[in-house]
Amino acid sequence: LGRNGQPSSRDQLRLIAGLSRRLSGQSTITGACNDALRAGMALTATTCGEVLFRDARTHQLVCLAARGEFPWCAAQSGGHRLGSKLVEAPLNDQEPVCVADVATDQRLDFPLPPGAPLRRAVSVPLTVRGRTLGAINFCGTDESAAGPGSLGALTVIAGLLAPVIENLYLGERATSQEAERRRFLVRELEASEDERRRIARELHDGLGQDLTGLAMSIDTALAMLAKPGEEDNARATLERSRETAANVLRDIRRVILALRPPALDDMGLFAALEAYAKRTIGDAGIQLHVSTSGRPDGLPPLVENVLFRATQEAINNVARHSGATSCWLTLSAGKARLRINVRDDGVGFDAAAVPQQGHFGLGSMRERVALIDGRILVTSAPGSGTRIDIRVPVKGNAS
Ligand SMILES: Nc1ncnc2c1ncn2[C@@H]1O[C@H](COP(=O)(O)OP(=O)(O)OP(=O)(O)O)[C@@H](O)[C@H]1O
Ligand SMILES: [Mg+2]
Repeated sequence: LGRNGQPSSRDQLRLIAGLSRRLSGQSTITGACNDALRAGMALTATTCGEVLFRDARTHQLVCLAARGEFPWCAAQSGGHRLGSKLVEAPLNDQEPVCVADVATDQRLDFPLPPGAPLRRAVSVPLTVRGRTLGAINFCGTDESAAGPGSLGALTVIAGLLAPVIENLYLGERATSQEAERRRFLVRELEASEDERRRIARELHDGLGQDLTGLAMSIDTALAMLAKPGEEDNARATLERSRETAANVLRDIRRVILALRPPALDDMGLFAALEAYAKRTIGDAGIQLHVSTSGRPDGLPPLVENVLFRATQEAINNVARHSGATSCWLTLSAGKARLRINVRDDGVGFDAAAVPQQGHFGLGSMRERVALIDGRILVTSAPGSGTRIDIRVPVKGNAS
């Protein structure tokens, strides 16, 4: 250690070189953060450190790793220090912040616990290609801790850590997306297997039996016709046969219906969805408002089917979960893009907190829409309704 309890320049270099080596071998975000915190605490002569990360989707700050006890961890319940202007300053300004006395800093917008010994702090933003991912913060009691002299070395640490976090984070996200895709595919396979089994059973038990009966009764009628005086019996048998044939036809229609919603062919996508929504949303006692613009002409059957099934799921969710008074279905087909929006004024939910087990609708919607190069946006929060926005590029749409 050099003057004032801070490491000498040579020790700083040694610490940074060691950190750089360790980071290149790290495979977890927590491990990388802990390496950087250890090096940063030694460099700044501080007693605690933390790495904060701003979630790109929710904009919330989460603590990726912490060492030692931060005074604001004890001051705020659950260890969260979110919302403090002091913590957010380096994130917003993309500049490091040195604080001489945390307890008296105007930007600390909650009281520290009485007798908290920690005084000096420094916070350096973690930036990659001009984008701030989060910040690395240190705090210490020593008069010389976290002084402006440590900023240069800390900026190097932040520069080493930020791309590592980004890469590992992207890797972890890709892994969880891949896991979700697999879950979806397995479920689709199971569903289509169930569907095949059901159709096979229906064909065997219903159609197979009926057609066997039909052939037998026609044989009987033919045999009767060969005998004089049996014409009336033959006619009665043939009439029963006709009834059976009508049943067979009805069963075939049911099987076809299960394979592809015939409304799609009969009415087209928008009218089929409107009819489905009227029935489902109406049955749930929710007021439906539909607005349609353009006509989705010439969509490939797969795209049509995916859009029908995904919107059907969104509509079912409104009916089953929303408790809404109103639901808005907006369907618009433009030259280059098709948009479907399902909105309700119901209870809403926290999309980030939906358990994976037993809830497939939203995940399967995402996967299906991605298959046709579309995008889906789910906007919801407890108490403020839900909005599902599906956008799909279309080629050569007529309107
Ligand atoms: N419009 C909505 N309003 C309120 N909550 C909703 C809405 N849509 C979805 N949710 C919530 O999100 C959860 C997940 O929905 P998802 O469609 O993925 O699964 P599910 O409907 O529970 O089951 P299923 O697999 O049969 O679709 C629901 O259980 C519900 O809590
Ligand atoms: Mg559902």
